[in-house]
Amino acid sequence: MRVGFIGTGSMGSILIEAFIQSGALNPEHIVATNRTISKVERLAATYSGLKVARSNIDVVRDCDILFLCVKPVEFKAVIDDIKDEAAPEQIIVSITSPVLIRQLEDLLGSKIAKIIPSITNFVFSGATLCVYSDRMADEDIERLENLLSHISAPIRISEENTRISSDLSSCGPAFLAFFIQKFIDASVEETGISREEATQLASEMTLGTGKLLTTGGFSPESLQKSVAVPGGITAEGLHMMEKELCGLFNNLIHTTHAKYEEDLEKVEARFFGTKVE
Ligand SMILES: NC(=O)c1ccc[n+]([C@@H]2O[C@H](COP(=O)([O-])OP(=O)(O)OC[C@H]3O[C@@H](n4cnc5c(N)ncnc54)[C@H](OP(=O)(O)O)[C@@H]3O)[C@@H](O)[C@H]2O)c1
Repeated sequence: MRVGFIGTGSMGSILIEAFIQSGALNPEHIVATNRTISKVERLAATYSGLKVARSNIDVVRDCDILFLCVKPVEFKAVIDDIKDEAAPEQIIVSITSPVLIRQLEDLLGSKIAKIIPSITNFVFSGATLCVYSDRMADEDIERLENLLSHISAPIRISEENTRISSDLSSCGPAFLAFFIQKFIDASVEETGISREEATQLASEMTLGTGKLLTTGGFSPESLQKSVAVPGGITAEGLHMMEKELCGLFNNLIHTTHAKYEEDLEKVEARFFGTKVE
């Protein structure tokens, strides 16, 4: 099986490196290209055997599963390049949330999947969100999820939940890192603890909390209850945060969803020429 990648920017290269380092794929099983070709040449220099293709057409001609790892605005140009070469038995995977399955089906005769990865996949962790076109047979899904399971927990979602699922799974690491950074900044500012020590403590805490919530049998609620004894210091802190953060996450979700709607309209306009106001 040969797996192709168009786009080896941030997420394309994370996926390639995670597939190789997890043992899911040998470099010889990968063919990749990128608009700026030096990016993919750098990967090939690190992973001997990885094949550099000089054009998008060369990739689509040479793979069974093809990951499209470009930004929404760049998507249509890539589809135009590959649509005449994409074969019905090929699996084409979009990792771009605002590009809809039906849009890809309209333009490509192949089997279509939408997979939303997360930066956490770099350490073989976190989810990959999976949406499938009806053209994907059970064995196609199994094949793709077998590959993804080396670097993540593949979780099937409905396409209408793409945005909120991506907020939690793919934007979540950045949101959580922001929260941790602010905690560290305040710790340094208020107490004089070194940034290095505060960062180490916060990072170890985050890892442990993730384990408790995934394999440790805790829910977010039960974890808070276990740490925060009534009248204690943690309980005071939680009470203050409850007041201060009131509405913050609702606003966050409104913000990401508004941006998503904007992206959906732009993609629709590029794919089908609909006017965007
Ligand atoms: N970053 C994340 O955590 C994350 C998580 C989930 C999903 N995603 C999705 O992944 C997609 C890619 O995001 P990213 O962060 O990886 O963006 P990125 O770093 O900008 O990578 C996109 C890559 O695509 C290349 N490219 C653009 N047009 C091309 C074309 N016509 N032919 C071949 N290559 C082309 C670009 O080449 P150049 O080097 O010339 O610019 C660039 O290297 C986005 O849709 C994003 O929503 C990202």
